[in-house]
Amino acid sequence: MSNGSPIRARRALLYVPGSDARKIEKLPTLSVDSACLDLEDGVALNRKVEAREIASRALQSMQFNCERLARINAVGSGLEADDLAAIVPAKPDGIVIPKVADGAQVQWVSAQIANLERAQGWKSGEIGLIAMIESARGIVNLREIASADARLRALIFGAEDYAADVGAIRTRDGDEVLFARSAVATYAAAFGLQAIDLLYLDFGDIEGLRREARRGAELGFSGMQIIHPDQIAPVQEAFTPDASAIVQAKRIVEAFKAHQSEGKGAFALDGKMVDMPIVKAAERVLARASIKV
Ligand code: COA
Ligand code: MG
Repeated sequence: MSNGSPIRARRALLYVPGSDARKIEKLPTLSVDSACLDLEDGVALNRKVEAREIASRALQSMQFNCERLARINAVGSGLEADDLAAIVPAKPDGIVIPKVADGAQVQWVSAQIANLERAQGWKSGEIGLIAMIESARGIVNLREIASADARLRALIFGAEDYAADVGAIRTRDGDEVLFARSAVATYAAAFGLQAIDLLYLDFGDIEGLRREARRGAELGFSGMQIIHPDQIAPVQEAFTPDASAIVQAKRIVEAFKAHQSEGKGAFALDGKMVDMPIVKAAERVLARASIKV
């Protein structure tokens, strides 16, 4: 897929360690919206250089049928500039920046990309950015991060790093990350960005995965990070409005139009009140159902 439209589905964003050529070679056989070649925490420290080479070669030589992303190491790690210098010339669709703490980090990465684009003679601005919010500072600075740069397309919530940063203990219900998780969805919506939810680490537990994905959709996320091919279908399904939701949304929008022309703003449908926010939610379902995948 080329990066033609700013609206992408990104229902599932699959990480693949940049150092693992075997897993990367599997990507063309997988029906996933986005693939992210990871140079950060999925790669051991002594394989960082090799991962850059493998990931860059794969981006240049392989036929992907999904969005092609690469995750660099955090700004300030000492690895980030070399990551960008190796990866940007391979022209990924976007760069994922982990552990974003403030807006200046996003702007720094954007400026580095602009320099590298110029060196290649490319039009500036085609490579997008996705910022990961996974620390207390990231949450506190959400407003400046979300409005930091025109390349920014989406925010990702990283629950494990966030919990580690604030000293929270992860639980099954996730109350300890709910404030931060909702904040990411809220700021993404406020600044017209996509919101991509946390990971479900237990890749053998598909029922648990479905539950967590549904919860993310309920909180306003339009997609979720994943780590294993078995997670693709359940997650993409959870973030796609099903046929009955589409039918119901169409009914609401049509009934709304009919009542509007009769001069009624609020009305009853199936024994429940429908007014503007319900109609907007229905329109969102229809918009989501028609997004390019
Ligand atoms: N991308 C592509 N292919 C993957 C994959 C991934 N993320 N995870 C697993 N596969 C492949 C495996 O190579 C295997 O294929 P094979 O049978 O041809 O060898 C198949 O899917 C089944 O994998 P399985 O044996 O169940 O898992 P595993 O033990 O090989 O790997 C993980 C488990 C967690 C190590 C692996 O899923 C992984 O590396 N995930 C991404 C980790 C990552 O990037 N973390 C950082 C971001 S959070
Ligand atoms: Mg992380």
